[in-house]
Amino acid sequence: MSNILVTGAAGFIGSHLCERLVSRGDRVIGLDNFDDFYSPQIKMENLKGLLSDQMFTLVRGDVRDKASLVNILSNHGIENVVHLAARAGVRPSIINPDLYVDVNVRGLVSLLEAMKDVGIKKLAYASSSSVYGNSNVVPFSEDQRVDFPISPYAATKKAGELLCYNYHHLYGLDVSCLRFFTVHGPRQRPEMAIHKFVRQVMNGEKVVLYGDGSTSRDYTYIDDIINGTVAALDALGGFKVFNLGNSHPYKLIDLLSVIEDACGKKANIEFSGQQAGDVETTYAEVSKAKAQLDYRPAVTLPEGVKRFVEWYKRVRNG
Ligand SMILES: NC(=O)c1ccc[n+]([C@@H]2O[C@H](COP(=O)([O-])OP(=O)(O)OC[C@H]3O[C@@H](n4cnc5c(N)ncnc54)[C@H](O)[C@@H]3O)[C@@H](O)[C@H]2O)c1
Repeated sequence: MSNILVTGAAGFIGSHLCERLVSRGDRVIGLDNFDDFYSPQIKMENLKGLLSDQMFTLVRGDVRDKASLVNILSNHGIENVVHLAARAGVRPSIINPDLYVDVNVRGLVSLLEAMKDVGIKKLAYASSSSVYGNSNVVPFSEDQRVDFPISPYAATKKAGELLCYNYHHLYGLDVSCLRFFTVHGPRQRPEMAIHKFVRQVMNGEKVVLYGDGSTSRDYTYIDDIINGTVAALDALGGFKVFNLGNSHPYKLIDLLSVIEDACGKKANIEFSGQQAGDVETTYAEVSKAKAQLDYRPAVTLPEGVKRFVEWYKRVRNG
């Protein structure tokens, strides 16, 4: 059992991670500022199963507030940190790059400084497949160059990896950077493709696909991501980078067929121009995570989408 700080605890991935950690006996401090990227009410719902658990403490606060972080880290005897708090989403980062840099880069530095000052040395950092940009060397492996981000969001995640390395080098922090590949499952953020498309198909609304439907993503189920994240947390030592993906990309147009099957309804598809910042493909090579973390993604896209639709219907119908 250890005392773990999870930033971004009320979000999609954070709430699942906190549940897993608490269920195996860790004491979890969940920090979140309930930002307005999507409804704070949804984030409170995400925490429903945790708030009455004695092993979970919610702290409302901002990762950019170093003084508060120092208090949290020292008052709760924190041993490990998982840093998930961020502004996510590629397209909005093009509209508001300042905010993305402020939260994702300055927020991380504030956390690293607080950890250094308090003497906490173990950090798992949520990076992203977006650091691979439009690389056409597939599958993407961790030793590939990632110097060509095509959105401010991707650039902030790459900057985050560099800062993590720097604090490892200067102060001996053990850091693993986890490159998540398009995560899906219950509680997925409402603006993400699967959640948005299921909502539109279920409501009989138009589904706008950007590009010709040939872009592809390595959709990875939340339980697999949590398995990989917990394994990485338990194995922290030195500086490491891991892909956590499914290694089985689907084309956007094929994702729509999977969603139609799961919803039992046809989609009313309209094609639109490709969006700036959207990469062509993501495809994870996961042999490093397999070898070092025993990471074995197990949930297929059709199975994950089926589970999402079941959750969606349950939540929507109260
Ligand atoms: N979901 C994915 O497919 C995916 C893929 C790659 C990387 N990631 C990364 O994983 C992490 C979690 O993603 P998610 O999908 O759960 O997103 P999310 O938006 O659901 O969760 C992020 C949480 O962080 C909180 N937050 C934002 N700014 C904060 C701040 N300044 N201080 C404290 N809390 C703050 C938000 O309120 C939110 O609850 C993010 O770092 C994201 O960039 C996610």
